[in-house]
Amino acid sequence: MRKIALLFIFGLIYAEVYSQLATSILPLIPLPKEIKVSNSTFKLTSKTKIVLFEQDFKSEAIFLNNYLKSNFQFELIITPSFPKTGNYILIKHTPSKSDSKEHYELKMNPKNLSIIAETKEGLFYGIQTLLQLMPIEKTVDNKMGAAEVEIPCANISDSPQYQFRSMHLDCSRHFFSKEEVKKYIDYLAIYKFNIFHWHLTDDQGWRIEIKKYPLLTSIGSKRKETLVGRPNDNKYDGIPYNGYYTQEDIKEIVVYAAERHITILPEIEMPGHSTAALAAYPQYSCTGGPFETATKWGIKKEVYCAGNDSTFLFIQNILSEVMDLFPGKYIHIGGDECPKDRWKTCPKCQQRIATEKLVGENELQSYFIKRIEKYVNSKGKQIIGWDEILEGGLAPNAAVMSWRGTEGGITAAKQKHFVVMTPGKPCYFDHYQWKDVNNEPIAFGGYNPLDSVYAYNPTPKSLTEEEGKFILGAQGCVWTEYIADFAKVQYMSLPRMAALSEALWTPSAKKDYNNFISRLKLHSKMLDKLKINYSKHFIKQE
Ligand code: ACM
Ligand code: ZN
Repeated sequence: MRKIALLFIFGLIYAEVYSQLATSILPLIPLPKEIKVSNSTFKLTSKTKIVLFEQDFKSEAIFLNNYLKSNFQFELIITPSFPKTGNYILIKHTPSKSDSKEHYELKMNPKNLSIIAETKEGLFYGIQTLLQLMPIEKTVDNKMGAAEVEIPCANISDSPQYQFRSMHLDCSRHFFSKEEVKKYIDYLAIYKFNIFHWHLTDDQGWRIEIKKYPLLTSIGSKRKETLVGRPNDNKYDGIPYNGYYTQEDIKEIVVYAAERHITILPEIEMPGHSTAALAAYPQYSCTGGPFETATKWGIKKEVYCAGNDSTFLFIQNILSEVMDLFPGKYIHIGGDECPKDRWKTCPKCQQRIATEKLVGENELQSYFIKRIEKYVNSKGKQIIGWDEILEGGLAPNAAVMSWRGTEGGITAAKQKHFVVMTPGKPCYFDHYQWKDVNNEPIAFGGYNPLDSVYAYNPTPKSLTEEEGKFILGAQGCVWTEYIADFAKVQYMSLPRMAALSEALWTPSAKKDYNNFISRLKLHSKMLDKLKINYSKHFIKQE
């Protein structure tokens, strides 16, 4: 009998400890810097008020209300005074205690919930954290008869480790509609990314309307068919493919992203990956064409002619329209994978090498990028390019996106240039994410499982502390040669995007993969509710 009583008591203790442990895991990704969980709850109902004194923070309060409306079918009254009865959410503008402009605090008890920040960004991130704490379904309080959303109380103080937290999407190889691009931006917002790198031009399609050069879209946005399977298979679907964003579409998406504190980094590829542009305007190539928009993936020999001054005028006119559309500081000018075959045999390119006293075609590429940089800088903007822009000498103010490993980024940081890390391993999310590749949808190749993304540290150990300051952050890339529809964009991006968000946001001392997986299991209910398709392999992992 005593044995049974003892077992019972142990059982109770175990259940209590277990429930403490279980409740201390909140479905938050990225994990906040400091978090104290209490075991009370804040009951959000349609009677809860939003107390807001600063009108310039109203857009964020409206964002919160819009989420409540679409997920719980009620919204809250926004008022500039404390309510006499009932609970409230206080949105408070306070000078930050932290060096980070993105800092926020959440203070919660059953009576009131405060979101405190100095900037709208901070406030937005506080709201994102709050949304992740909400259950997926409202419940009905039996006493009150009113719908309520029960939020676990916690006190949180939070700010990011890196200032450049980016996700990329290739909309050239496959085109994704305006609504799909907005959805993708929504996912970035959930995980507190602040840059969307929009890959708008490549050999297989030009996707941005340029008023001065209408053939870029009337010809360059179309290809007659698309490769099926791998390049060596040489099989095509025979189905014409097209799509582009009008300038009105782009303005709408820029505003949509800005409402989520996401800056769009547009990429206009040069001097390589330009077949679609040259199909429309072959006069800016070395040979004069004619060309067709590419139908097969891979590196193409046709590139812009670097010996022809009118090529530069053409690109500058394009960039002028691009810079008017995108308010961010950086313009991505590509610069990757530019074969030099045409330049080697082009009299104009060879003449340029001679008159500019350049050493070979690598320096001609460097000349090309420096000339474009001068133009972009003259408009008050900066260029960023793939790490090939280091070859032949880096343009004076250029930032580097390191994709062929981290060496390019390390070299650039040592030269005091800003760097965004996106090494193929583990930042290319078009690679496989699960070892059983035969049972996975076709991917580009490679293997970047979730734990490798989670473990990523953007600052290489070989840099000194001073050099490390040039590492702005990192980016996940979603190239779409093998991603033809948006459900697959979701599948390849998620949950790796969530893992990368934590690598960029959370102090590395706080990172713990098993804990991340436990939180992801809870958080994935939110993804289910939002009807987002994601890879579920982590459910089997611990
Ligand atoms: C790249 O993957 N070619 C930047
Ligand atoms: Zn040429």
